[in-house]
Amino acid sequence: MNVLVVRGNPRKNGFTQYLTDQFCIGLKEVEASITDIDLAAHDIKPCLGCYYCWLTKPGQCVHHDPMSGFLEEVLRADVLVCATPVYYFAMSSYLKTFFERTFPLTTEGLEVSSMNLLRNQLRYPDRWKGKKLITITVGALRSREAYEPINQTFRLIADTLDLELGGQLTRPESHLLPYRLSKPMTLKRVESAFVRAGHEAGTTGVLSETVMTDAALPLSPDGAYFRTYSNIYWEHATSSGARNVNSPALLDRVGKDPDILMREMARSIDPRATARVKAMLQFDFTDRDLHYRLTIDCGQCVMVAEPTENPDLRVTCTTDIWVALFMRQLDVGAALRQRVIVLEGDKSLFTRLGRYFPPPAV
Ligand SMILES: Cc1cc2nc3c(=O)[nH]c(=O)nc-3n(C[C@H](O)[C@H](O)[C@H](O)COP(=O)(O)O)c2cc1C
Repeated sequence: MNVLVVRGNPRKNGFTQYLTDQFCIGLKEVEASITDIDLAAHDIKPCLGCYYCWLTKPGQCVHHDPMSGFLEEVLRADVLVCATPVYYFAMSSYLKTFFERTFPLTTEGLEVSSMNLLRNQLRYPDRWKGKKLITITVGALRSREAYEPINQTFRLIADTLDLELGGQLTRPESHLLPYRLSKPMTLKRVESAFVRAGHEAGTTGVLSETVMTDAALPLSPDGAYFRTYSNIYWEHATSSGARNVNSPALLDRVGKDPDILMREMARSIDPRATARVKAMLQFDFTDRDLHYRLTIDCGQCVMVAEPTENPDLRVTCTTDIWVALFMRQLDVGAALRQRVIVLEGDKSLFTRLGRYFPPPAV
């Protein structure tokens, strides 16, 4: 199986790159021959629409740039994998230019397509037979409708180039991907879906419904959470400077943001363990002047980011200590003895926190 991976993402430390790398890990597990093209690393000129490739020198472009070699790769490929970030509901200009420049592989004379539309004839029809297209689309927005235009464009491109659509991987909410601590299971499933997709692409060229569903798993429970979480990503990105966007340090800070960890803790409440509990817990983080009130009310928990006068239990510590506690990496006894965690009020509530708020099960 010859697999051609075409990357249309300009940002090399971004989420499209990361997820496409995961896909390639799966591809490498099988005996596929892989060609990996990074479009942003090449100077590929846009199509001039001059029809030189039809009329003057059939099959050849008026431009002389790396695209002529890439056309040969397209013809050789059994599976074409196109990865792109979503820009204005569409593919990046790099990938768009790539598709425009496949025009020398088509020729004049319209024919009816599989979707019952009209398309240009293919110049080497035999070399297109059975070729498949798989797409990887990564965007920041949450709603599925926001991805319909780009995915529909890919479906139409597949139809017009007589490619069989092998599958579409859509990853919304890209800026929530660093929230690994609060969404460990879901993120594992998302990442493993991309690896499995690569495996499937290299064996059959067709993606299963399961990998496509898992790749797109929601990372936020609703639109309001999505906005909050997304804005937190950008607050960290802004404060660390544009040059550091998606540096490992930034991703680490985003992933450990207490605002999200507290929200996810409130969401992870065990309704059975707290069925008869009414209590107000206050968490004060001294290093960042952050205050969170968690009100437990018979199986439910509401979080408000505010100081509280008389909680049933007040926990005071730094955010780093809280993250270590959240990750079950802290010697709690020692932390209490050394007063890096200070408790006031009903200390027995503190010992029950692990039971009331089990580790995130999503
Ligand atoms: C010019 C531009 C336009 C964008 N338009 C959209 C959009 O229409 N829909 C969307 O979901 N995200 C949009 N985004 C956000 C990117 O898709 C998102 O940041 C994604 O993670 C970028 O991929 P990367 O992380 O690989 O760089 C846009 C970003 C840029 C820079």
